Amino acid sequence: MVLTEEMKAKLVKEAFEARRGSYSPYSRFQVGAALLTSDGRIFTGANIENASYGATICAERTAAVEAAFSGSREFIAIAVVGSEEGSEDEEMAYAYPCGICRQFLREFLPQTGDVTVLVARTPDNYRETTLNALLPHSFGPQDLDYLHQ
Ligand code: THU
Repeated sequence: MVLTEEMKAKLVKEAFEARRGSYSPYSRFQVGAALLTSDGRIFTGANIENASYGATICAERTAAVEAAFSGSREFIAIAVVGSEEGSEDEEMAYAYPCGICRQFLREFLPQTGDVTVLVARTPDNYRETTLNALLPHSFGPQDLDYLHQ
């Protein structure tokens, strides 16, 4: 699947929209994510916190779990937007995916290639990188292939 500039912009827009679903009464840091899978579907998510803080799930994983559960298990691109509650546009920081989310996304790399990661401050201002750049020398399903030989 070719990732067009239009699709990137759409993912960023959807991540902003998804951020509205954040449940973050403890950190008040609201994160939204929009994930494109190889079948052309888009899955969105937001961070959902918990009074037992460690039980919190990040926005990226909310979206990834929904995609994987739906059978869409090849990730092409993910847009992420995160900032403290109430912040607008340029006040927002670039919130890169946390380490656990990088590993979680890595499970669903496309057959060939990488996952594009878009990190946005505003709908028109986003940076682009890749999962391999964010998580080099990663551990993945192939490392456990010996179990199936
Ligand atoms: N968070 C995410 O949703 N994604 C990340 O990649 C980093 C952190 C959330 C978790 C928690 O609800 C809040 O941001 C502050 O850590």
